Amino acid sequence: MKELVATLPQWLRLRRPDRDTVLYPAVSYPTYEMGAVLAGCRAVPVAVDSGWRLDLGSVAESDAERALVLWANSPGNPCGQVDDLGALAAWARGRGVLVFSDECYVEHTYAPAGPRTILQHGSHGVVAVHSLSKRSNLAGLRAGFYAGDGDVVRYLSEVRKHAGLFVAGPVQAAAVVALDDDDHVSVQRARYLERLDCLRAILGELGVEAPLPEGGLYLWAPAPGGDAWGFTEQLAVEGGVLVSPGDFYGAAGAGHVRIAAVQPLERIELVRRRLLGR
Ligand SMILES: Cc1ncc(COP(=O)(O)O)c(C=O)c1O
Repeated sequence: MKELVATLPQWLRLRRPDRDTVLYPAVSYPTYEMGAVLAGCRAVPVAVDSGWRLDLGSVAESDAERALVLWANSPGNPCGQVDDLGALAAWARGRGVLVFSDECYVEHTYAPAGPRTILQHGSHGVVAVHSLSKRSNLAGLRAGFYAGDGDVVRYLSEVRKHAGLFVAGPVQAAAVVALDDDDHVSVQRARYLERLDCLRAILGELGVEAPLPEGGLYLWAPAPGGDAWGFTEQLAVEGGVLVSPGDFYGAAGAGHVRIAAVQPLERIELVRRRLLGR
């Protein structure tokens, strides 16, 4: 998906030269902003509310009028929030802005309401983007799919063809096998949940209250005293665990750290013993 995220603004700009702005969540995966920069577009972060959800009420009308695309990411990296995708679609349709909804973590949703896609709110003006990287731990395969507004999907398929971005036949065959099977995804979802619970318990004993994310692979934890870099160093030096300071994901993420639940339980138990001595 990274390839699409990085090139999309440039291609959409060819389609709509009158618009030059990419809106993206103020705390998010950095490639949304970088794709805008690479395309020579204006990258405008959209503020998030206290639950880390996009706050579209904060977007200036002058930015909305110039917006080519709005990126959403639900469940989100790094915050784990689930956004109100119906509200995002309605806001964007009212302004002629395309929504690209990055749903690469959707199968790893823990919120009781279950997984959500923007396509539940119609396909006009919206495209849902999926990746096998997170769904099936197949990041090296470089495969995924997008679905939604027919005109936009057709346009992107044409452009990708001329840009030489074909997916090799054997990769397509492997992707079909992975997408046809949901059992391995359920097993992996349960693993992530168990690891997230275990990491939360360790942090709790350190006096850090990290909420269970609504989805995704990450704990988004407030650093003691708001010192994310100090906490990152402590966890590395004392626990041997590498986490990401929140400002990697935007200035509004400062004060938090992102902890990825991507190690098996026995490694997380080792971190517990190092940090807590038991
Ligand atoms: C929110 C988000 N979108 C997209 C990607 C990229 O995924 P892919 O491996 O499919 O390029 C990532 C990977 O970290 C991600 O966190």
